[in-house]
Amino acid sequence: MVEKVPMEEPRYKLNAPIGVFDSGFGGLTVLKEIVRLLPQYDYLYLGDNARAPYGNRSFDTVHEYTLQCVELLFYRGCQLVILACNTASAKALRTIQQKDLPTIDSTKRVLGVIRPTTEMVGNYSKTKNIGVLGTMGTIASMSYPIEIEKFFPGAQVFQQACPMWVPLVENNEFDGDGADYFIKQDIDKLLSQNNTIDTIILACTHYPLLMNKIKKHLPAGIQIVSQGEIVAQSLVDYLNRHQDMESRFTKGKTVEFLTTDSTEFFDRYTQLFFGQEVKSQQVVI
Ligand code: DGL
Repeated sequence: MVEKVPMEEPRYKLNAPIGVFDSGFGGLTVLKEIVRLLPQYDYLYLGDNARAPYGNRSFDTVHEYTLQCVELLFYRGCQLVILACNTASAKALRTIQQKDLPTIDSTKRVLGVIRPTTEMVGNYSKTKNIGVLGTMGTIASMSYPIEIEKFFPGAQVFQQACPMWVPLVENNEFDGDGADYFIKQDIDKLLSQNNTIDTIILACTHYPLLMNKIKKHLPAGIQIVSQGEIVAQSLVDYLNRHQDMESRFTKGKTVEFLTTDSTEFFDRYTQLFFGQEVKSQQVVI
C-alpha cells in the first residue's frame, strides 16, 4: 500500500494532471514527446528511481511496484496514467487493467507503450524482419513477438535482452567507454540472428538516452523505432476518441516531477534530458 505523503489537499483536488510513470529516467523520453504534442494539459511524472531498474525483477515484484506508483499518481489527482515503461507495460499492465482498476476506481485508466508501438512497427519495415532490444523482463515476456504477430501476421521478430543498458543510464554512465562495449555487444548479438533485419525497436524507454552510441554501432540502413513519438500520437488519438476522459484533465500547462530517490541528482539529470529547469519532490512509497 502507498504510504500517503504529506500534501496540500485543496491543490490536488483542483489538479487533474496526466500521470506518466517509469522505473526511473526512461519515461522522460516519452513525456517529452507527449508534452510537445499536447502542451495544454498538466503533467505529473513519477520516477521510481530508488527501486530502478525493474528489468530483472519478477512479474510479482514489477506488478507490486507499478501498482504502488499508479496508486500514488491517482492519489495526486491523475485520472489517466501512462506506463512509460516497457517492463511495467509487459509485466503489470494487464493485471492492473483487469484486476486492480475495477476495485480501485473503474473510472480511471492506465495505458502502456507496447501496443501503440506494435500497431505501427510493421509499417516501417520492408523485409518484415524486425529486431527488438529490451530489458530481460520485456524480452522474456514475449510481449513484442505476440503483439506484432496480431497486427502484422508473418513478420519475423528477433529479440535481444540488454541488461546493462538501463543501469548505464541510471548511473550516469551513458556517455562512457563502458556504454560502447555493452551497446556494441548487444547490437551484434541481435544482428547475428538474421542479416535482413531492417527495423529495430528500442523497446525500453531508457534507450533513446543512449541514441548517439546506438547509432554509432548500428550499420547504416537499419531504422530505429523509438517510442516517444508513437506513444504521444497514440495518446492524441485516444483522447480524440475518449472526450469523457479528456474533459477531466486540468489544462494549466504545468509539468511536475516526483521521484522516490534523491531530488538533487534527479533534477540535474532530468534537466539535462528534458531541457528545462526541474524541481522535483521526493515521495515515499
Ligand atoms: N524504461 C524501462 C523500460 O521501458 C526500464 C525498465 C527497467 O527499469 O529496467 O523497460
